[in-house]
Amino acid sequence: MSTRALEWDAAAYHRVGSPQEQWAAEIIARMGLTGDEFVLDAGCGSGRVTALLLESLPSGRVIGVDSSEAMIDGARRTLGADPRAAFVCQSLTELVLDEPVDAIFSCAVFHHIHDHQRLFERLHAALRTGGRLVAQCGGEGNIDAFRTLADEVAGRSPYAEYLAAMPAPWHYAGPKDTATRLASAGFASISCWLEDKPTVPADARTFTETVLLNYHSDWLRRAAPPEAADELGRAFIDEVLAEAGSPLTLDYVRLNIDATAA
Ligand SMILES: C[S@@+](CC[C@H](N)C(=O)[O-])C[C@H]1O[C@@H](n2cnc3c(N)ncnc32)[C@H](O)[C@@H]1O
Repeated sequence: MSTRALEWDAAAYHRVGSPQEQWAAEIIARMGLTGDEFVLDAGCGSGRVTALLLESLPSGRVIGVDSSEAMIDGARRTLGADPRAAFVCQSLTELVLDEPVDAIFSCAVFHHIHDHQRLFERLHAALRTGGRLVAQCGGEGNIDAFRTLADEVAGRSPYAEYLAAMPAPWHYAGPKDTATRLASAGFASISCWLEDKPTVPADARTFTETVLLNYHSDWLRRAAPPEAADELGRAFIDEVLAEAGSPLTLDYVRLNIDATAA
């Protein structure tokens, strides 16, 4: 089965994406924006964090790029009336913008992309010389305990028959490899570091369906017989959540990235 851009449940993500919004606020604070820049929101999602970014850009502009059409539609609904915001559905690995941006912001996106070298090359090409990339994504060790549990359940009947062939959805890179890739893509003044962010989502069920196991549900929907797929997806999530315990505590580890386009 081929890999293709995953479609997200944008409305549900918009409701449960509070941890990401909190992380986004910290990334934006690191950017030191003066307020008139043109900024790329790389993987803008439903526009919830784009709206936050725009609060720091009273006379600036944002272009939000995301590979999910549902997320881009959601972002347009969130910020459609704001003349400072524009949105494009495109993969960041194919990114081409009409004009260079002053800075790139990204929250909770890069671990969804396997080819980081290509990603950083496309981001570098989109930045003006001297422009900054300030980002955070899942890093080495991210939600290890939850992923181990999900893998265990996925290896059992009746899920294994369908999920065994599913490729690993995420790429959790480390700071050293990331710094090397950024340098070879043309970035300088590079800082990359890991940060623990233990998190208890407010609505564990929706968060798990929408953010943690959405690739698994999507794969089951395509691999299992149509009449059984939805029920299998629900049962899989029930089983993982029952074994994860309550409250659901996620051992998030974030990879922070600061770099300048040389
Ligand atoms: C967890 S959401 C984060 C959304 C938003 N940045 C936030 O913090 O709320 C991950 C987003 O990355 C997007 N994404 C994944 N792979 C992508 C790619 N190759 N190019 C562009 N966007 C991508 C997804 O469609 C999704 O909207």
